[in-house]
Amino acid sequence: MTFEYSSAPESKAIVKLEPLYKLYIGGKFVAPKSGKSFASINPATEEVLAKVGYAEKSDVDKAVVAAQAGLKIWSKMAPSERSKYLYRIARIMQERSREFAVLESMDNGKPIRETRDVDVPLAAAHFFYHAGWADKLDHAGVGVNPKPYGVVGQIIPWNFPLLMLAWKVAPALATGNTVVLKPAETTPLSAMLFAQACEQAELPAGVVNIVTGDGATGAAIVNHPDISKIAFTGSTEVGKLIARSVAGTGKGLTLELGGKGANIVFEDAPLDETVEGIVNGIFFNQGHVCCAGSRLLVQENIQEELLEKLKRRMALIRLGDPLDKNTDIGAINSKEQLNKITELANSGDEEGALRFSTDCAIPSKGFWFPPTIFTGVTQAHRIASEEIFGPVLSVISFRTPQEAIEKANNTPYGLSAGIWTDKGSRILWTAKHLRAGVIWANTFNKFDPASPFGGYKESGWGREGGRHGLSAYLKGAK
Ligand code: NAI
Ligand code: MG
Repeated sequence: MTFEYSSAPESKAIVKLEPLYKLYIGGKFVAPKSGKSFASINPATEEVLAKVGYAEKSDVDKAVVAAQAGLKIWSKMAPSERSKYLYRIARIMQERSREFAVLESMDNGKPIRETRDVDVPLAAAHFFYHAGWADKLDHAGVGVNPKPYGVVGQIIPWNFPLLMLAWKVAPALATGNTVVLKPAETTPLSAMLFAQACEQAELPAGVVNIVTGDGATGAAIVNHPDISKIAFTGSTEVGKLIARSVAGTGKGLTLELGGKGANIVFEDAPLDETVEGIVNGIFFNQGHVCCAGSRLLVQENIQEELLEKLKRRMALIRLGDPLDKNTDIGAINSKEQLNKITELANSGDEEGALRFSTDCAIPSKGFWFPPTIFTGVTQAHRIASEEIFGPVLSVISFRTPQEAIEKANNTPYGLSAGIWTDKGSRILWTAKHLRAGVIWANTFNKFDPASPFGGYKESGWGREGGRHGLSAYLKGAK
């Protein structure tokens, strides 16, 4: 006997979509000079949700001038007053959390369960956390009376639109900077709702400026001479481009780039809990996660049992309407991303790995990819080394702990890793030998504003969150 779920959709009524979202510059919503706009769609339905202004260089110039004016007010304000604004923004995010969650789910395609329980609460938590720091920077461990950069440029991706905004804006404001931020082209809407929240919080004009656009808009921010620091999250490819542009200009730079995280399962791991951790590690947010556990390294003698349990668990994953409260996997964020996932998965077939996908029903409209694992993956396969950024797991076996470390570290990236074992000593030994910025033990994808996040090697430079993240926005701080 099978039990079916009834549909449990969250109402869209709470979201008031505007036909056209203008740029948020100097505390006002202003049309881009060229009058150009572009559409943001719902990737689960392919419907156009709204048009957003397309910012060109002259609009970015205007935003920088506004941010400089904002800096005059913001830098003179007592830190304890700045703290109140951050606190107020956090409260507004909580009060309007359903609105943020539904809008984010519509614009991005991620399940409402995740926007409601992860993205929005964590975004608010980042503002609360940094509200607490704003008047205590002397105690941040970066010297007495540390100084902000001034105007900072921030460019964020589409996988956690509101959360990445919070990771960028909260520490920048807490440390006394003002910002020009660009959301990703496929997910600008929660940033525009955030702009409305800034207005509601009566944040002084020019402290936060939001310009919507594409890579050219981002490049105009990166190359602006009056911006003193760039913070970027996105692909390693664009990160490298930005590093080249910024080199020699004296600008500060932090980069949070791609990853190919190893989730390592030792023979003594509690298998049922581990399966939950594997599922969370690769299928959370459709696998659009830079720190996803996208390489499963499993000790050979338990591989068969673990994979059997994993496949059984995967069959229970529900793919479909992101606004349905029972949905586990929503839509892939864009056609381009779906093509990239499909192409990489096909390379897995061609190179001889064995594909297993659940046979869940795929909606006729929108962009979807079923939960998939590849077994028989070798180190030489593209799916073992390239970031897929989708719900696709590559399974690689190992015999000894030493071999696990070698395989885990055999990547140009170094963002995250997971360790599953019953032994505390093995956790410590493994963590010590892994070259990854964030390592989880017997859990995965846990985030906290107090915990620094960032990578080694091609996964980026600098840390976000915690005390370390503050220093990234303070001049001369290490
Ligand atoms: P992307 O790196 O092109 O986009 C990220 C942000 O950078 C967007 O706001 C974009 O408009 C902006 N941007 C693009 N070109 C720029 C330039 N030349 N100068 C300044 N800003 C620029 O990433 P994309 O194309 O959306 O995704 C491609 C791949 O990158 C994904 O398949 C995934 O593997 C990886 N990725 C990794 C992310 C992470 O969190 N580490 C986030 C997004 C993508
Ligand atoms: Mg969209």
